[in-house]
Amino acid sequence: MKKMSNPFKFGSAVTGEQYYDRTLDGEKLYSTIAGGSSNIVLYAPRRYGKTSLVKKVIEKWAADGFTCLYFDMMKIDSVESFCEKYASAVYAAESAAEKIMRLIGSGLSSLRPKFTVDDNGKPTVELDFTTRRFSVNDLEEVLDLPEKVAGGQRTFVVIFDEFQEIATWAGKIPMEGVFRGCIQHHNSVRYVFLGSKTHMLQRMFSDHARPFYNSARILQLDKPPIEESRRFVSERFASVDIVIGKEAVDKVLELSHNIPYYVQALSSEIYENVMAGSGKKISLEDVDDAADSLVDMKREQYEIILEDLSGAQRRLLSALAASPTDCFEEEYRRKFGLGQSSTVHGALLKLVAKGYVERLKAVYFVGDPFFARYLNSASYEVRRDK
Ligand SMILES: Nc1ncnc2c1ncn2[C@@H]1O[C@H](COP(=O)(O)OP(=O)(O)OP(=O)(O)O)[C@@H](O)[C@H]1O
Ligand SMILES: [Mg+2]
Repeated sequence: MKKMSNPFKFGSAVTGEQYYDRTLDGEKLYSTIAGGSSNIVLYAPRRYGKTSLVKKVIEKWAADGFTCLYFDMMKIDSVESFCEKYASAVYAAESAAEKIMRLIGSGLSSLRPKFTVDDNGKPTVELDFTTRRFSVNDLEEVLDLPEKVAGGQRTFVVIFDEFQEIATWAGKIPMEGVFRGCIQHHNSVRYVFLGSKTHMLQRMFSDHARPFYNSARILQLDKPPIEESRRFVSERFASVDIVIGKEAVDKVLELSHNIPYYVQALSSEIYENVMAGSGKKISLEDVDDAADSLVDMKREQYEIILEDLSGAQRRLLSALAASPTDCFEEEYRRKFGLGQSSTVHGALLKLVAKGYVERLKAVYFVGDPFFARYLNSASYEVRRDK
């Protein structure tokens, strides 16, 4: 019998067989940028599949001849480190190394750029920030690099993932203003801004007092169409000779809230529990058991999170696990013992900032469906009563 491996994957961005289409979203993203009509902001709560989608679309832009530069802001914690890593990324994306060395050399000479290769063989730029204070001008030089490299001869697509993070870098430089000031003059670079802290990203682009106001077309990535998710789950199980009926598939999607990461995590757990290639048919009970084992695996982590929350935050989180809502009127507050409106508001801000609660179309909900399952479970009730 051929050896079979788990057909599901979760954690990092997925491609190939582990990816299902999202054709409509991909098409919108692809054509807006390819047509050059505007820059794009693409936001969605955590784990909806933003990074995977954009990586898929990058393949299409690249096939059209665009030079694509994917840059993750999550790994950056200061403007200095941004400059070094971004200059390195442009350096790595540019095939004519001489040209970029000349540009970086002339614009940033006082930061003594050193051109090396890192341990993975990737071209890297090192900047020396010890000799003088870092200035707005340095940041502008770095941000303008793709435009200069393109030189009107070709077009870059720059994708900043988790873009909202620039608002969190400490320091005196008004990041958003400088970013916006530079990129609005770029004719040969198109930008895609991705983010999962939806409240932060939305405010950045929709608040008329902020520099990025109205500067890009805003796309919201929804959950995948339910039919696509259904097909994906059944086909992936079928590929390892496991049968799953429609009811069980629907149960998987219900318990994972049809969020791609959790769809894959739950399916993967089911796979681990039933024997691959056994021709076995998955029951509703198998799905429930797998959901319980996911909760069990994360139980300790959930408990640590809860210990760090205030009483008001814990009560609100439990309420939202039981009943997502867009309205915290008296009836809701009384039902869940949440107290004053101002207390709820304060707790809500904290839970959103910590990423445990998400907001989509004005409705607040617990982002991780298995955290919600834990909060709704009898075992949590028992602890809470103690
Ligand atoms: N199109 C897809 N097809 C199948 N699975 C997907 C798809 N998109 C995302 N996933 C699942 O979700 C997981 C997370 O995907 P990805 O990292 O792209 O999401 P994200 O929204 O960028 O997440 P984060 O908020 O953590 O940055 C993947 O590892 C995969 O299991
Ligand atoms: Mg991501």
